[in-house]
Amino acid sequence: MESQNEDHIASNLLKAQSHIWNHIFNFVNSMSLKCVVDLSIPDIIHSYGKPMSLSKLISSLPIHPSKKPCIYRLMRIMTHSDFFSQQNITDNELEIEYMLTDVSKLLLKDNPMSMAPFVQGSLDPTMTNPWHEFSTWLKNDDITTFQTTHGRFLWNYAEHNPRFNKLFNDSMASDAQLVTNLFFENCREVFNGLESLVDVGGGTGTLTEALAKSFQQLECTVFDLPHVIEGLHKSDNVKYVGGDMFKEIPPADAILLKWILHDWNDEECVNILKKCKESLKKKGDEGKVIIIEMVLDSEEENINESVETKLFFDMAMMVLLAGKERNKKEWVKLFLSAGFSDYKITPILGLRSVIEVYP
Ligand SMILES: C[S@@+](CC[C@H](N)C(=O)[O-])C[C@H]1O[C@@H](n2cnc3c(N)ncnc32)[C@H](O)[C@@H]1O
Repeated sequence: MESQNEDHIASNLLKAQSHIWNHIFNFVNSMSLKCVVDLSIPDIIHSYGKPMSLSKLISSLPIHPSKKPCIYRLMRIMTHSDFFSQQNITDNELEIEYMLTDVSKLLLKDNPMSMAPFVQGSLDPTMTNPWHEFSTWLKNDDITTFQTTHGRFLWNYAEHNPRFNKLFNDSMASDAQLVTNLFFENCREVFNGLESLVDVGGGTGTLTEALAKSFQQLECTVFDLPHVIEGLHKSDNVKYVGGDMFKEIPPADAILLKWILHDWNDEECVNILKKCKESLKKKGDEGKVIIIEMVLDSEEENINESVETKLFFDMAMMVLLAGKERNKKEWVKLFLSAGFSDYKITPILGLRSVIEVYP
């Protein structure tokens, strides 16, 4: 009896140790992913046109000869996490053949919906270094950990650092491209009857340009900070306006806020939403704000990975921007505080929802 109890204690102890090890090395998944994208491994396998053996893959990579044995181990962990599948598994590692999966197809640089820029933007040291200052930040009065690390807020840092500005804007544009494809396929009715739309914090205009092509009657404006839209040109029914959404938003029938409100705290969100309401009012009583964001605690959250991913985003918003991910109750509180009267949440974009908010 006593020995059974001791076994139980030992097994729990070892499980706990393994759990901690897993958490310590969680970053290995992210950094291996970044390495695979930096080396363009999905593109190389894709161009090969058929399952690619490890030996062929190694000979196609710009790596130092002494590092050749490392690629098997990189591919092994990435295959374990479903980025690649393998066939021809023999004792000779060099003969193992790798194929792309649905996940790695989304990393192909010539896939219009490629998430490669999002991987590179999110895992750039500018974005990962602040995590080392997380506990320091909790003890000081800086507004964001990003500020503790880099001395400026993220938007201001981007304004003064052209490399990061491009990296960040490209990473947002890659996400916008994927959303655009799904959005127009599944929720065209959201835009029916609208004559004008402002994409507030619309980045470099990927979503709006596609929207304007698809709805030619729609007069569109991409509104963002001046350093983001600098050099971008007006196309047929899209114009680019630089400004500050906390001061004034150009008038329109509809305002799009994609991944804007999760960057800000509740008080700032209410201020942004009030500015949106003022802008809608200038066009008459109809109109709406269209928000694309996550809603915590929603249906699909019985899938464990989805819950964790949303919590990862929430933590990233806290560390990088002093923002947060919100549950339905928190969203509704913001809408009512800003003077809106009704809303509709459609969970249609995977982990994100389309939220229409009416004056
Ligand atoms: C997370 S990004 C989202 C970009 C785009 N909506 C998307 O989802 O692809 C937030 C955007 O808000 C912009 N932004 C930040 N502060 C702003 C302000 N005060 N006025 C207007 N835009 C702002 C940033 O420059 C950035 O492009």
